[in-house]
This record gives sequence, C-alpha cells and structure tokens, in this order.
Amino acid sequence: MEEERDHNASESSLPSLSKQLESSTLGGSTVDVPVVDLSVSDEDFLVREVVKASEEWGVFQVVNHGIPTELMRQLQMVGTQFFELPDAEKETVAKEEDFEGYKKNYLGGINNWDEHLFHRLSPPSIINYKYWPKNPPQYREVTEEYTKHMKRLTEKILGWLSEGLGLQREAFTQSIGGDTAEYVLRVNFYPPTQDTELVIGAAAHSDMGAIALLIPNEVPGLQAFKDEQWLDLDYIDSAVVVIIGDQLMRMTNGRLKNVLHRAKSDKDKLRISWPVFVAPRADMSVGPLPEFTGDENPPKFETLIYNDYIDQKIRGWALEDLPVY
Ligand code: SIN
Ligand code: FE2
Repeated sequence: MEEERDHNASESSLPSLSKQLESSTLGGSTVDVPVVDLSVSDEDFLVREVVKASEEWGVFQVVNHGIPTELMRQLQMVGTQFFELPDAEKETVAKEEDFEGYKKNYLGGINNWDEHLFHRLSPPSIINYKYWPKNPPQYREVTEEYTKHMKRLTEKILGWLSEGLGLQREAFTQSIGGDTAEYVLRVNFYPPTQDTELVIGAAAHSDMGAIALLIPNEVPGLQAFKDEQWLDLDYIDSAVVVIIGDQLMRMTNGRLKNVLHRAKSDKDKLRISWPVFVAPRADMSVGPLPEFTGDENPPKFETLIYNDYIDQKIRGWALEDLPVY
C-alpha cells in the first residue's frame, strides 16, 4: 500500500512520459492562465469566472482571497526551516508504511526529483501528528491556522462551482463528504539543477482528488497543458493556484477539466511549493452526478469508491503507461 499511496501523493510520472515527449522542450508559452480577483463584490461575476476557468483550463489563480499574507509567509517560513534541518532531524518524521511523512525522492532518475513532506490536515480524526515536524516549534500552530483558511476558501470555490453549474451551493462540498472531506498538505522541495531540460520536479499528472490549492515560493516552475502545449504559470505575489482534480471532472461527467500539470526545477534557484489536496473521504462513492447525465448525455465515467479509484488509476499507470480516466 505504501507504493500506492505514495503514488497517489507524488502522482506517478508514468502517464506523463508520452505527453512530455510530444513537446520537445520544457519551455512554456506565454498564453495567460486566468487570474480571478475575489475582492469583486458581484458574486454572479465570480461564479461565471470560476466556472469558465474550471471548464476551459482546469487551473487558475486567485488573488484577494482573504488569506492573510502574513500567514502565508509564516507557512512558507516554517516549511523552509524544516527542509533546512539536517537529514537526521528530518528523518524523525520519515515516511513509513503509509504516504504521510518526509521523503527524499532523488532516485537517480529524472522524474519527481524532489524532497517532500506530506501529512493530513483535516478532518481532525485522521490527523497523525507524528508526521508533523516538531521543529520549527511554530509549525503546528501555523499549519492549523492555514488549514482553517484552506477549508474556507475551498468551500467558497466549490460553492461557486456548484451554483454556476446549476446545483445547490453545498452540492460539491457534500459530494466529497462535507466536513469529512480529506485535506492533505504536501510541501515540495525542488533543488536547482543544471539539467532543466531533463530533470523534472513533478512529472506531468492530473490530481486524483477533487481540487487542490497551491502556493509556491517566488520561483516559477508550474506548467499547465492546454491546447497541446505547456504553459507557464506566472508567479503572482500572494496568489493561490487552484487546480481542478479528477473527481470534479468525474462528478460533472467531464464538464470541468482535470488539468494536466507538472513542475519544472529551476537552474539556479530552489523552488518550493505547498499544495493542499482536497479529496473525497476514502469510502465515498464518486461518479457523475445525475444533474450532468441523461439520455443525451450518458455517464462517461464509472461510479467508484474513492479508494478504489486510487487503486485503479495507479494500476492503470503501472500497466499501460497511460492515464486511466
Ligand atoms: C504538484 O502538482 O504535485 C506540484 C506542483 C508544483 O510544485 O507547483
Ligand atoms: Fe498536482
């Protein structure tokens, strides 16, 4: 199971290879990924913008989202301080049989070339504090505060998406388990490499969960695949990157886009990113909602227990070198 959850977490490199080979270089184009300013008071406008970005792109950035900049800086500081510790200290929260914990992933290969820390954030009943660093001492307090904001922002975005697609505001939040939906933080640490045409920090993948909210440090590297090309996401100070995952795509019978994305390593600078993955509770059935299917529009995806979906996706990657959705 360790491998499987690990793949779930690090999102295996396998499906990416064919896509990566299609584009001969890791350079991106300059078409802009949407940016949505959440301070706009016209909610109907926000609903339309968020739905449009999720349908056309599956990725967008939000600014003026209400998360205090100071808290974002603190989260970045405690994470960075953790990775600066000697290996022996980092190993005190090392990954064991499950996916949580610290792991160095420089496997000698070129994909998923990172060091990372992974742990659950919510609901409280599934948190394993043994994987939360004790050093720096503020780690837990800062991360718990950040989690509250992640939940608030996620539910807001899911609410807009539900409304914009003609559902009750709570619909998507409920379909992933409401308060029992699982929030997981991954801190990715991508050291610089001279070999940026070959080494990839995070190989191309779509996220398995419903949605992810990510903040990077100031070093760009995240790319999204759209219209047969890789596009760079600009670094916008204090913005949060929103990534639509497989389950929102499946629930909407393909209407929302589970964007293929990857993270390049930088030539000179250390890149760090903090995605928070939001996924259905493991035992929930997830598939196309009735509102998105009908005689004219039969379900394109099987309804599956989320845990089985994970297993199936990983098995598909391993056997076929292709995504399974
Ligand atoms: C990921 O999607 O797994 C990481 C993306 C990033 O580091 O920006
Ligand atoms: Fe991802």
